[in-house]
Amino acid sequence: MTRCLAVCLLIGNFLSPAVGNTEVSCVFMESCILPCSFQGGTDVVIHWIHVTAGDVQIHSYYYNTDQLAHQDQHFKGRTSMFKDQISRGNASLQLAEVKIQDQGRYKCYTSTIRGNKESYINLKINAPVERVKLEPVENKITCSSEMIYPEPELTWSTSPPSNMNFDMKPEVQRTEELLYNISSSLILSDPDVNYTCTVSTGSSRKRASWFKPISLVGSFAETVIQCSDSNTKITDLIWRFNHTEIILIQTRPDVPCTVSERWKQQVKGVSESASLLLQNLSSHHEGIYSCELSDAGETLISNNFLRIKESPAISSRLFRASVIAATAASVLLFVLALYWTNKKGQQENNRMSLSAETQMNTVPKSTDEAPSPQSN
Ligand SMILES: *[C@@H]1O[C@H](CO)[C@@H](O)[C@H](O)[C@H]1NC(C)=O
Ligand SMILES: *[C@@H]1O[C@H](CO)[C@@H](O)[C@H](O)[C@H]1NC(C)=O
Ligand SMILES: *[C@@H]1O[C@H](CO)[C@@H](O)[C@H](O)[C@H]1NC(C)=O
Ligand SMILES: *[C@@H]1O[C@H](CO)[C@@H](O)[C@H](O)[C@H]1NC(C)=O
Ligand SMILES: *[C@@H]1O[C@H](CO)[C@@H](O)[C@H](O)[C@H]1NC(C)=O
Repeated sequence: MTRCLAVCLLIGNFLSPAVGNTEVSCVFMESCILPCSFQGGTDVVIHWIHVTAGDVQIHSYYYNTDQLAHQDQHFKGRTSMFKDQISRGNASLQLAEVKIQDQGRYKCYTSTIRGNKESYINLKINAPVERVKLEPVENKITCSSEMIYPEPELTWSTSPPSNMNFDMKPEVQRTEELLYNISSSLILSDPDVNYTCTVSTGSSRKRASWFKPISLVGSFAETVIQCSDSNTKITDLIWRFNHTEIILIQTRPDVPCTVSERWKQQVKGVSESASLLLQNLSSHHEGIYSCELSDAGETLISNNFLRIKESPAISSRLFRASVIAATAASVLLFVLALYWTNKKGQQENNRMSLSAETQMNTVPKSTDEAPSPQSN
């Protein structure tokens, strides 16, 4: 009777008080702590249960050690406890490389001789927008962003604002990891506006802008192409030729840029404002030079259509042509001159013989005087 009372009292005392939900947000593939505390003590028993997944056991601890025999496979090798702090009442669970499937409600059950306790944690995972890409494909540009959670939104806008219809539904794909890939294509119908694409999920938002192309005329010797007049701090810079061929990449302003092999002779350098300095150009370097500048929040793509005023190839061709023309002209002149001197010589001869004859005819008397050809 007294024993029963004692047991009943004990049960009454130790009925697990359930603690309300704690919200925890973690980033996809990062490490995450599910907090749980209790009064502390000895002979501690801890059970971590993923309630949403069907009360699966993800980590247990008793007899002063981890007990993983019944651990769900999905959590294998990803859970740990702060062992040195358990006796002080810290039953928090560290979960590594969190996945979207890890989301949901968790129960932390603790028990010591002083009592037991249940608390609940609600885990949310997010995969923020890392990067928004803009790529030209024929007469369209495609905006895309990948590996996002929860489902992102994508919007287009122009500057200046236009009444273009941007209501097309973006294409959304689900990856194996349950993340979202999103993309949308737009026909570049108005070449005189700048286009911006924004992708957002939760509190994370990034955008990319496509600036209308600017026409430039460069010289073969040296040409500077400006990147962007905004004061974007360079964290990532890519210069491309005709949208596909990479000229150079610079990841940080204090790190030298990497110039692709094909452009080594042409790239003289990059200025602090990301302008591209080119030299030694020829006509096959005419085309579109686009500069992609990214910082933490946005990507700016400016496009320049470069024409080259005078290329060494053209001028050497001109030079060759003029050399040929000059040679031909001098040959002609020479021939003419030869002909002319020949003709003149013949006339002279004719005249000489004529005058000799006349002299002979006209001055036959003075025999002591030699006949002079100059006489007339
Ligand atoms: C438990 O210990 C870890 C590691 O020191 C700490 O980050 C966490 O905040 C502690 N949690 C509680 C509930 O005390
Ligand atoms: C487009 O962007 C460029 C570069 O920032 C800017 O100079 C120009 O004014 C913009 N054009 C319009 C129509 O907003
Ligand atoms: C989503 O994007 C990632 C990263 O580029 C890619 O590896 C994956 O194949 C894409 N998945 C789908 C379903 O499109
Ligand atoms: C210009 O290009 C030619 C060959 O294409 C190369 O021999 C020459 O060194 C280059 N000049 C400079 C200044 O890089
Ligand atoms: C680059 O693009 C321009 C214009 O689109 C084109 O005329 C040129 O042939 C292209 N150059 C190369 C090397 O592909």
